[in-house]
Amino acid sequence: MFKSKARSVRLQIPEGMPVPQHVAVIMDGNGRWATVRGLPRMAGHHAGMGAMRDVIRAADDVGVKFLTMYAFSTENWKRPRQEIQYLWQLLEEFFLRDIKELIERNVVIRFIGDTTHLPLASQKTIERAKEMTCSNTGMVVQFALNYGSRLEIVEAIKAIAKRVESGELSPDDIDDSVLSSHLSTAGIPDPDLLIRTSGDQRISNFLLWQIAYAELYFCDKLWPEFHREDFLAALESYGRRERRFGGLK
Ligand code: FPP
Repeated sequence: MFKSKARSVRLQIPEGMPVPQHVAVIMDGNGRWATVRGLPRMAGHHAGMGAMRDVIRAADDVGVKFLTMYAFSTENWKRPRQEIQYLWQLLEEFFLRDIKELIERNVVIRFIGDTTHLPLASQKTIERAKEMTCSNTGMVVQFALNYGSRLEIVEAIKAIAKRVESGELSPDDIDDSVLSSHLSTAGIPDPDLLIRTSGDQRISNFLLWQIAYAELYFCDKLWPEFHREDFLAALESYGRRERRFGGLK
């Protein structure tokens, strides 16, 4: 079971240090973690699920309000069928095992991406997770599944164009907030901090619009090795940065 908030991990973050409201995470390196151990890639994903659980707990413990985890991209369909099937199996395993704790933590579960292409059993699992947590009021955890940022932006533009065509919206009224409100993240503040593990320093089609002013944190550890203390180190790095949003200090 999870550790109670009473033995708060807040203590591990220096007093007064700002905690990012929204943290987005690119969980990369599961395959490499397995390969260097002579294990099948699937073992890396399984270990990655453990790291994901740790990070969700740590984020909740320190008071992060929104956490977005990149679990499956629109490009990940290029992987072997067996690996893809295993990821959907893991998704089900995760919610079967963790939903009770997530409810106790008052967590709200959301999904971004086109989940209609997932196997039916996975679609049912995610519907159940959403339903069971929809009246919660705590940290929002968004899982990006079959998510691609360019596709999301294209879909938003199509929806806006239709509203213009019907006369409901004037082209002059289109601004940042109109586009944001047509994305799958509508109503969720933009990420303050983006973490990517495994040493690669790229964004890989994740939340391209939303991370315009996010602080970027790249870490060499492979995702299955990334645990609570690594997440807190990322938050500390964030806390030391000066955010100017294009303005002056
Ligand atoms: C990237 O590592 C990781 C993924 C594509 C899957 C992330 C999945 C989990 C963390 C497990 C939980 C699963 C779900 C669906 C909730 P990679 O495989 O690209 O690693 P590599 O770059 O070393 O090959």
